[in-house]
Amino acid sequence: MDAFVFSTEETVLNEAVKNEKWQLLIVDDEEEVHAVTKLALRDVIYQGKEIEFISAYSGVQAKEILAENNNIALVLLDVVMETDDAGLTVARYIREELKNSMVRIVLRTGQPGQAPEREVIINYDINDYKSKTELTAQRLFTTVIASFRSYQDLIAIEHNRAGLESVIESSSNLFSIRSMDTFIDGLLRQITSVFCRGNNPVNLNSLVAEAHGVDKFERSLKVVVAQGDYIGSEGRSVWEVLPPELRKHCSNETQDQKIVYGEGYIFYYRKNTGNRSALVFISGLPVDMCDQDRNLIELFSTNVQIAYDNILLNQELEDTQREIVYRLGHALETRSRETGNHLKRVAELSELLAILYGLPSEQVKLIKFSSPLHDVGKISIRDDVLNYPGKLDQAQWEIMMTHAQQGYDLLYDSPREILQVGARIALTHHERWDGKGYPNGLAGEAIDLFGRIVSLVDVFDALHSRRCYKPAYDLDYCLTHIKENRGKAFEPKLVDLFLDNKERFLKIMKRFPD
Ligand code: C2E
Ligand code: SIN
Ligand code: SIN
Ligand code: FE
Ligand code: FE
Repeated sequence: MDAFVFSTEETVLNEAVKNEKWQLLIVDDEEEVHAVTKLALRDVIYQGKEIEFISAYSGVQAKEILAENNNIALVLLDVVMETDDAGLTVARYIREELKNSMVRIVLRTGQPGQAPEREVIINYDINDYKSKTELTAQRLFTTVIASFRSYQDLIAIEHNRAGLESVIESSSNLFSIRSMDTFIDGLLRQITSVFCRGNNPVNLNSLVAEAHGVDKFERSLKVVVAQGDYIGSEGRSVWEVLPPELRKHCSNETQDQKIVYGEGYIFYYRKNTGNRSALVFISGLPVDMCDQDRNLIELFSTNVQIAYDNILLNQELEDTQREIVYRLGHALETRSRETGNHLKRVAELSELLAILYGLPSEQVKLIKFSSPLHDVGKISIRDDVLNYPGKLDQAQWEIMMTHAQQGYDLLYDSPREILQVGARIALTHHERWDGKGYPNGLAGEAIDLFGRIVSLVDVFDALHSRRCYKPAYDLDYCLTHIKENRGKAFEPKLVDLFLDNKERFLKIMKRFPD
């Protein structure tokens, strides 16, 4: 899940939006100024919020307060305090060290217009500059309100920017995800991150339901993922879990898809152009969702839709590839009268042996899906040889051995990875670790690892199966054969892994009997 790392760095800023009061820091070494300022602004309420006054009597004290409080909207800042430029250092400190570009700063001084002050005003985004005599009650009021307003605008812009960044980042993450489970998990986490700000954690309840292959899709929606209050509802019809009146939001028109925002919930239903539909329901959201949040969710969901379609398409492709591989194999098995589940077992046994060998999951998947192709070359073997009911003579055997190369020739120039790997497996599955195999007499690690793995499980399963030329041997015999061929036919490490975990292999044999 590390693809979904979502941002929490903006929480500090967002807290400020939700604060009950405008925080105003008065920095001045004269007690008198504090008193006068508070008196002048005593009854001010702007956008329903009162002012909370915070006092600092020196530059040093102001820095301490600012370092600990990110929610201050405005600083009324005296210039001359413990030093001639104490206020200017505070301004510099706010912008450069705290990197706080939100808080508004109004400088107040007895002697305006000196050179260092101009430089500070230009470089440190000082909003206003007043000589102390200028700051009458009315002017102070105007200045303070204007500062709060621009502070609020800055916060809103920042909030939107942070949200946008998180949406863009998470969308690009979504595109790299290939499985539905991680996709949905990531989606919910992402939505949670859009809403969970500051100290107000949101406990979301969410579910995802899917349906496919029926006329009235919304009727057969089944819960596939559930969180929060809906935990445990997986597999149930969604209308046993959600209020039935939500059903009116479901439209079976593919083009008619939108997010429905209710009191504290989001409802989203989508009928795909294929035979699928999906429903996402999330509740437990803040009731006071703002337009910006909605914009972000809309933007996010557009990207989610594209990513979701990609995943479906990808799944469809994979399913198709797999099915073709099995059908090809089965056609062959029918011709050679090999019965039952040989190919399924080879797929499963190869998968397990590859896992035990320590291969990464992508490789494991590849060998699982490709290994059923190992004998595809037998398709070109004459029937009187392929189905000969006894021991092959030399001429027949020469023909039979060509199936490895023939399988390779059939598949190698495919652009599909599964078929390419299938080609490698077909070519090498009769090579031996000791170099006495065919078609190329390769030895040891010169043999493709996939071929080495399939070789072992193929022989094991062939021994245990009935063939036109031989009966099925019992498991003890087959295990003994594998053991005796350690370092001869098979790579020693593979034999060890196989025998050390034989219970797990035998379980697969039982799961797919002939
Ligand atoms: P297959 O039947 O799928 O067998 C795959 C591999 O399992 C064989 O590769 C061999 O290594 C092993 N195997 C199967 N049965 C036995 C057995 O009774 N004893 C031993 N020691 N190993 C066994 P191999 O030998 O390269 O054969 C490749 C394919 O050639 C076989 O695939 C089968 O289709 C055919 N074949 C092999 N021997 C005969 C035979 O005597 N008569 C006929 N009609 N076909 C044979
Ligand atoms: C299948 O596609 O039939 C199942 C695939 C598998 O389990 O390998
Ligand atoms: C192998 O398939 O590598 C071993 C089979 C054999 O020739 O005994
Ligand atoms: Fe073979
Ligand atoms: Fe086989």
